[in-house]
Parts: sequence; C-alpha cells; structure tokens
Amino acid sequence: MDKLLIEGGVPLRGEVKIDGAKNAALPALAASLLAEDREVLLENVPQVVDIRTMCRLLRDMGASVEEEGTSIRILPRELTSLEAPYDLVRKMRASVLTLGPLVARYGYAKVSSPGGCAIGERPIDLHLAGLEAMGAKIDLVDGYIEARADRLRGAEIYFDTPTVTGTENLLMAAALADGCTVIENAAMEPEISDLAALLKGMGAKIEGEGTERIEIQGTTRLTGARHRILPDRIETATYAAAAAISRGDVLIQGTDKEMIASVIQKMIAAGAEITSEQEGFRVASGERLQGVDVTTAPYPGFPTDVQAQFMAMMALADGTSVIREMVFENRFMHVAELRRMGADIRTKGASAVVRGVPSLKAAPVMATDLRASACLVVAGLAAEGRTQIARIYHLDRGYSSLEEKLSRLGARVRRVKD
Ligand code: UD1
Repeated sequence: MDKLLIEGGVPLRGEVKIDGAKNAALPALAASLLAEDREVLLENVPQVVDIRTMCRLLRDMGASVEEEGTSIRILPRELTSLEAPYDLVRKMRASVLTLGPLVARYGYAKVSSPGGCAIGERPIDLHLAGLEAMGAKIDLVDGYIEARADRLRGAEIYFDTPTVTGTENLLMAAALADGCTVIENAAMEPEISDLAALLKGMGAKIEGEGTERIEIQGTTRLTGARHRILPDRIETATYAAAAAISRGDVLIQGTDKEMIASVIQKMIAAGAEITSEQEGFRVASGERLQGVDVTTAPYPGFPTDVQAQFMAMMALADGTSVIREMVFENRFMHVAELRRMGADIRTKGASAVVRGVPSLKAAPVMATDLRASACLVVAGLAAEGRTQIARIYHLDRGYSSLEEKLSRLGARVRRVKD
C-alpha cells in the first residue's frame, strides 16, 4: 500500500487546475445506461479510482465503455447482466446509482445493499421508497436489493431529508417512467443540475433542478448525448484550504467559486484573501487565520465533504471554532489523527470544539475515508516536519494527480510504497 510523505511548512504558490467533478461523473455514467441509440460522450471526467470502478461495473453489465484521457464514450448496447455485485458496491457506494436506470429501462435490477461506512449508517431507504412509489416491487434477498417493475409510473415523492444520490436515482428513473414525477425536498447540489442537463440532452423533460422541487415528465426512450462534466467543487475547496493553511498564494483555475460560496464566505471570515480572476480565483493568506464557526448542511449550506479540510485549517487558527456536522452522524474520524499532530480538538455528539494551536507537528497518521484523508494532507502541508499518511488509496478514489498538483505549487510531497 502506498503512503504519502509531506514535508510541511512551504507556502504554496502558483496555479492549480481543477478536474471535473467525481460526484457528477458517477451519476452521468449511470445515466448512460438509459440511452437506446447513439453514444453518450462524457468530457472532463476526472481520472480517479471511483470512476474506474464505475466503468468496470458498467462493463461487467455488458456495456461498451471506452476511456480516452478525460473523455468516456459509452456506446448503446443491450446489457447482459442487471446486477451490481457486493464486491464493487462495497468498494464504492455510488454503485447504487445504477438502480434507478436499470429498473426504469430493463424492468429489473439487483444491487447489493451498501451497508454502513466510515462516516455513518448511510441508509438508502429514501431511494427505495421513491422507487416503490413509482410502482417498483422491492425485495431484499441475501443482502441484495431486487427491484422489479414492468414499467415505472410517475409519482409524487417527498424526501424526509434531501438525499443527493437518492434525488439522482429517482431523476434517472422518472425520466423513463409513465407520466409525471414530482420530487419535493429534493437535493439542490450542482451535481444534480449537471445530471439533469445530461438527461435533457438525452431527451428527458425536467424542470426545477437546482431547487427543492423537481418535476419530470417521463418519456418512452432516451438517446445519446455529449456532455461536459462540471468542475469539482470539493477539489476546489480542498486546494483553497491548502493555499490558506500554508499561507500561500494560489490561483485556482477551471472552476467557479460560486459553487462553494458558503466555504468562501467562511474563509474570508477566517482572514483569507479571495479574489476573482478571469481563469478562476486566487486564495492568499499571509497571516495566521482566525477561528470561525461552521455548520454543515445540504447545498447551498457548508458541504460536509469540506468539513474535515476546514477543521485542519481551524486547528492552526487563532482562537476557538465550533464545527457542527449535521449531515452524517459519525464524520469526525479525522479528529483523532489531527490530535496526533498536536491539534486541540474535543468532540461532543455532532460538535467539535477546535482550539487553535501555535503549530502542528508531523506524525504518522492514517487515512480513514476520502475527505478525512484530504484533511490530513492539508494539515501535513502546514505541520512542522515530515507527515506520513498511510492508506492513501482513499485519496486516490477522489483526487487525481494530487502529488503532481501539490508539487507544482512548491509542496514537498512524495508517494512511497510501504
Ligand atoms: C453524496 C455524495 C457525498 C456527500 C453526500 C452529502 C456522491 C457520490 N456522494 O452522498 O460525497 O458527502 O452526498 O453531501 O454524490 N439518507 C437517509 N436515507 C436515504 C439516503 C440518505 O437517511 O435513503 C441520509 C444520510 O444518512 C445522510 C443524509 O441523508 O445523513 C444525506 O445523505 P446523501 O445526500 O444521501 O449522501 P449520498 O448521496 O450518499
């Protein structure tokens, strides 16, 4: 297993280019299963392990998937298997995004039930209740969800809590259902709007994406389309945090800071300088940051996927900040690792009280999930000495060319085999 070694203390300087969003490319790949003719061509797809896993899942189902750099071409073909096996779903929960398209187009899907993960229980009951409301019969057999429906029909669906992949699954299913589907309290993340744009290009009729009420008028067939995946807002925020914690000056290119307006506001409140430029935006910070409070929430609130990276920044800020995690129930796995680096953080329930310390000290630490790993990288960039991060396969799931991008900004970072 690879490790990452980071010699901290270098202010990051230069430019970094943001890739396409992993969390938009994954549903887009699943949506490609809906096309009956003409290829789906996805551009600006990040080259990360989760995308490779999704491509493998589609190929195992019999789809024709051609990867060329950051473009992926999916040619329409009858599938030979309608199953997402345990082995792949265990590696990547987003495999459940195939449920909606499969049952809508083929009338059957067998998807391994994903179970909990490092950040919480993460049920998919709302996905299933939505499909049931659309007429699917759902059974749980040997740890697998089996969904059957001759033809899905439009329904009124209300989510108790806005779920991102749940909204995406039902959006894809409803696009091929009989009649009109309304999703109330839908997730409003930019990745939902990106998926809706692709589906519309394929012939779907959708209104209200990006708001809490989405209306989908089902159609009988969808066709191929060409679609460019939007920039990754979580990668954007991660590099912004890296620039600020290292007291650097970085131009973040190929992205839109409006997608992380909640993060930008908190960074400004903490004392970072943020300026818009033609190709993106610049994050600079000469002074120590100030502690600010943060509460995570569904979009447009502060993203839970940035909470850990922000906490690393706050660990080195002047004063105290309170960080509340309101989306997942167990998303403080990085706290114990940050403490090993000298951070002063106490958690109680969904809150973490972070008292800024004068310096963080390098230590061997362990990545526990994707964003917790990103937090350790951010902390390592500012720590005194050489931080060693183990289990970085988590990072490879969602960040492409991380060492190369950081090295180009001047960071002393190296990947080594264990
Ligand atoms: C997606 C993102 C993930 C991000 C998360 C929240 C992808 C591939 N992943 O995950 O990076 O951290 O959104 O922004 O896009 N819930 C239920 N029942 C359900 C579904 C969800 O109770 O059926 C709960 C979850 O436990 C959680 C909350 O709703 O507390 C939000 O989860 P959800 O939006 O579904 O997260 P994902 O779509 O899995």
